[in-house]
Amino acid sequence: KKIVLSAIKPSGEITLGNYLGAIKNWIGFQDEYECFYCIADLHAITVRQEPRLLRKRVLEILAIYIASGLDYTKSTLFVQSHVPAHSEASWILTCNANMGELSRMTQYKDKTAKLKENTSISAGLFNYPVLMAADILIYNADFVPVGIDQKQHVELARDIAQRFNSSYSDTFTLPEAKIPENAAKIMDLQDPSKKMSKSDDNQNSYILVLDPPDVIRRKIGRAVTDSVGVVNYTDEQPGVKNLINIICAIKNVKPDEVVASFEGKGYKEFKEYVAEVIIEELEPVQKKANELLTDKSKLEEIYTEGAMKASYAATKVLRKMQKKVGLLPPV
Ligand code: TYM
Repeated sequence: KKIVLSAIKPSGEITLGNYLGAIKNWIGFQDEYECFYCIADLHAITVRQEPRLLRKRVLEILAIYIASGLDYTKSTLFVQSHVPAHSEASWILTCNANMGELSRMTQYKDKTAKLKENTSISAGLFNYPVLMAADILIYNADFVPVGIDQKQHVELARDIAQRFNSSYSDTFTLPEAKIPENAAKIMDLQDPSKKMSKSDDNQNSYILVLDPPDVIRRKIGRAVTDSVGVVNYTDEQPGVKNLINIICAIKNVKPDEVVASFEGKGYKEFKEYVAEVIIEELEPVQKKANELLTDKSKLEEIYTEGAMKASYAATKVLRKMQKKVGLLPPV
């Protein structure tokens, strides 16, 4: 069986971008492949988090995973920090990664460019992609379903794996990113030239998976479009294009079909439709997630079992790594 691994970092509440670019795409892998879906809390702390909030978000994300259709009896759902092999493997890989390739990561460059002057940049932020490589490689994952923004990180994991394999001997499967067609990059509703992001300061720029219907209607109503006034799927109308992509990702239709169905109609009607499509998709997820969140002990049971299963798989690969680099096994 091929192996799939992916993760979301709980550094903010889950957005429609995360849902369409990642979670929704993960569901389909469950029947055919052995899937590991993780909550990357160690990645979240590369920038400082409010501890109480971070813990709350981890549970919320687990609830959203399950509510969206990830089945914990088929897939392994777990919290990254509960599986120490991630941190241990990350160190060994850090010693096999180089500063140059990490400096070239665009997410690192963007994030550090955005930080105000005099804010210190944690070494964790720099090493972030190595931890992510560890997440992927210790499961020998074949496929990593992510949005396009994470593609470069998956390629780095592949490079590190290849280097490790040729320096020591065959150890890791070379992973491949799987990018969804229309949801590769859901854009910011206020500035459709940038990605929709959970850490944006402007709440109107994103839709959260747990946003109530009226909030969704309002945010879509305010989404930036253009002065063309005709629903077209083109780079000249990035705001409209983004809304079409959202519809396509949810309804599994082609952009042309959406354009055709709005011929002769204006943006108001179009936006109302977009909002209803999103609400229809998210309402059942919200209902189920909120239900799950009332029973913490069930969620605890799920992530405890997940950590056990994940640990079992990860530790096998970790032991190989340790042995190959020459660490003396404990007796
Ligand atoms: P994160 O938490 O930023 O995003 C989680 C997933 O959502 C995708 N995504 C989007 N897709 C489409 N449009 C958007 N606007 C959008 N925003 C986010 C991301 O591409 C990602 O798939 N480093 C990762 C988490 C991670 C990980 C891993 C992923 C940690 N370890 C191992 C895969 C494998 C991250 O910060 O994703």
